[in-house]
Amino acid sequence: MTSTADTNATGSEIYPPSPAFAAAANAGPELQAAADTDRLAFWDTQARRLDWATEWTQVLDWSDAPVAKWFVGGTLNVAYNCVDRHVLAGNGDRVAIAFEGEPGDSRAITYNDLLAEVSRAANTFTDLGLVAGDRVAIYMPMIPEAIVAMLACARLGLTHSVVFGGFSASALRSRIDDAAAKLVVTTDGQWRRGQAAPLKAAVDEAVDGAESVEHVLVVKRTGIDVDWTGGRDLWWHETVDKASPEHTAQAFDAEHPLFILYTSGTTGKPKGIIHTSGGYLTQASYTHHNVFDHKPGEDVYWCTADIGWVTGHSYIVYGPLSNGVTQVVYEGTPNSPTEHRHFEIIEKYGVSIYYTAPTLVRTFMKWGREIPDAHDLSSIRLLGSVGEPINPEAWRWFRDVIGAGTAPIVDTWWQTETGAIMISPLPGITATKPGSAMAPLPGISARIVDDEARPLGAGGSGYLVLDEPWPSMLRGIWGDMDRYRDTYWSRYAEEGWYFAGDGAKYDEDGALWVLGRVDDVMNVSGHRISTSEVESALVGHQAVAEAAVVGAADETTGQGIVAFVILREGAENTGDTLIAELRAQVSTEISPIAKPRQITVVPELPKTRSGKIMRRLLRDIAEGRDLGDTSTLVDPKVFDAIRGK
Ligand code: WTA
Repeated sequence: MTSTADTNATGSEIYPPSPAFAAAANAGPELQAAADTDRLAFWDTQARRLDWATEWTQVLDWSDAPVAKWFVGGTLNVAYNCVDRHVLAGNGDRVAIAFEGEPGDSRAITYNDLLAEVSRAANTFTDLGLVAGDRVAIYMPMIPEAIVAMLACARLGLTHSVVFGGFSASALRSRIDDAAAKLVVTTDGQWRRGQAAPLKAAVDEAVDGAESVEHVLVVKRTGIDVDWTGGRDLWWHETVDKASPEHTAQAFDAEHPLFILYTSGTTGKPKGIIHTSGGYLTQASYTHHNVFDHKPGEDVYWCTADIGWVTGHSYIVYGPLSNGVTQVVYEGTPNSPTEHRHFEIIEKYGVSIYYTAPTLVRTFMKWGREIPDAHDLSSIRLLGSVGEPINPEAWRWFRDVIGAGTAPIVDTWWQTETGAIMISPLPGITATKPGSAMAPLPGISARIVDDEARPLGAGGSGYLVLDEPWPSMLRGIWGDMDRYRDTYWSRYAEEGWYFAGDGAKYDEDGALWVLGRVDDVMNVSGHRISTSEVESALVGHQAVAEAAVVGAADETTGQGIVAFVILREGAENTGDTLIAELRAQVSTEISPIAKPRQITVVPELPKTRSGKIMRRLLRDIAEGRDLGDTSTLVDPKVFDAIRGK
C-alpha cells in the first residue's frame, strides 16, 4: 500500500493521523492545553508518572541558572522505577528484554529476571567497595548485561559513563581518566559480522596506568582468549551470578547524578554531559509514553540505537523500562548475516514500534524494497526517526515500505544535552510533513531566532534555542562548569537561552525544520564527531604539519568526513600508503566511525587574514560547489592548488 498525502491550505503535503489512531492515542489535545495553562504544574503532573520516596517541595529552582534543580527535595530510586515497581504491580512475568544475539542466540528476560539480575550486580558492585557517587565506566556490546550494569549503577547511586564499544582504547582511557572511574565493566569480545572481535584487550590497554581503576568486571560473551590481571580482573559469571538476588533499593535525591555521557564539542576534548535523576527520568518516561504512543503489555518496541549513545540511554534503558516496556535488544549489524536481519526480527517478535536513524533508512532504500517486502511487517504501527534531519524521500519510503503507508512517523529532535525528546510530532494529533520535526512537545519551549536574538516567524530561518529550562536538561559538563556556561549559554547570555548549535527554519505553516549543525560538529550516520578531534588525530601523525576537516554532504551517511592535510617539511608523500596510515591513525585515536571518507594532501590551506582556516570554503570544495567570494583570503590561489588535486 502507498500512503496518500493530504494537501493543506498552503498546498503542503501533510499526513494527518487516522481517526482510529487518534482515538486510541496516549496523547490528546489536553496535554498541550495543560502545558499552556501552567508549564510547571504540567511537569509536576508528569513527575507523578514515577514512584517517589519523598515528594518534592518545588518543581523548579532556576535561581542558580544555568544549573537547574527540578523536583527539589524529592527522592526516588531510578532502577526501582524501571524494574521493581513493575514486579510489585504484578507484571513480573512480562518480558522486559527480548534479546537477539548476532550469532542467532536469543533470551527472553522478564521483569522478575531483570530484578534478580540487577540486584545481583548491585550486590557485587557493593562488595567491590563502590559507594554512591563513585563512577563506573561501561564499555560493552549490546547485550542484556550492559543494561543490567547501568541499572545496577542507578540502583546504588553510582554514576555510569557508558563508552561506545566502537571507541578506541585511547578514547576509552581519556573518558576513564576524566571521570576517575573506579570500575570498568566490559566483555571478553563482541560479535561483529560473524567474527568474535576482542574488547577486553582494548580495556587492558586503556586501564594500563589509569590510577582510578580498581577493578575490571568481564562478561564472557564470545569465549575468545583474554589476558588476565589477578586482583584487578573479575569474571561476571564468577561474581554477579553467584551474588544474592535480593537487594533493597535506597532513594536518592532528584538531583543525584545518574550518568555522564561524553559527546563531541567544537574543541578537541569530548564533553562529559551530566544528567541527574528525577527530572531526567520524568521527561524520558513522559516522552516515551506520548511520542511513541507506547501501550505496556501490548506493544513490542524496538529502538535500534546502541547504549553507547544517548538514544540508547533514554530510549532503550530509562524511558522504556520506566514504562514497563517489552522491547527487542539486538546485538549486531543490520546486514548480518544478511540484509534481511532487521525485518526478520520485526517479523519474529511482532515489533509494533520501530525507532531508528535516517542513515539506516537510506541504507535500506539502497538495498532495495524487495528485502522488506519479503517479510510480514504488519505488526508495525508507529515509526520513529532520530539523529539527523530525515530527507523527505527517505521519510516517504519509510512510511510506505516499512509502515504500510499508514504508520505515523515521529521525527524526534533532541541531543545528548537535552536528555530526552524536545521537538516531535505527537502521533495521534499532529498532521506531519515529510522531513519536519514539526513542533516542540507540550511542556517544552523552543524558538528560532536570528543573530540579534530576534524571534523569527513563519518563513524565518536562524538558530534553534530553548528559551525555558526543561526537566531532563544537562546539569553541566563534568569537571568544567565554565565550559558549560560558555558552550551553551554565552551566545544568548542576556536572554538566558540555551543555544543548541543547530540551524532551523519555520515553513509557511509554522512547522519547524531542523537544518543541521551550525558549529564545527559533523553528523556522520547520526554520530556526532567534531572536526577538531579528527584534526588533532591527523596531526598526531609524524608526517602531518596541519589538518583541516569538514563534513561534506553524503547521500547515505548524511555527512562524510573530508580531510585536507599539509605535510611537514621533508616528510615524504607516499601516496596511498600515507592515506591508509592517516585513516588508521584516526581509527586508533578515536574510532573507526571517525575515519575520513577522503583525505587530500594539499600544499596550503585557505585562511582568513586573521589566520582562521576557512572551513566553509573547504566544504564547498569537498561538495564541488562554486566558491563565490574569496576576497578575504590571504591567497586565493590556494584554492586552485587544492582543487587541482
Ligand atoms: C542532530 C542524538 C534533525 C542535531 C539524540 C542535534 C537531528 C544532534 C535530529 C544531537 C532530528 C538529532 N532532526 N537533526 N530529528 N535528531 N539531530 O547528541 O544536529 O548524538 O544537535 O543526540 O543530532 O546529536 P546527539
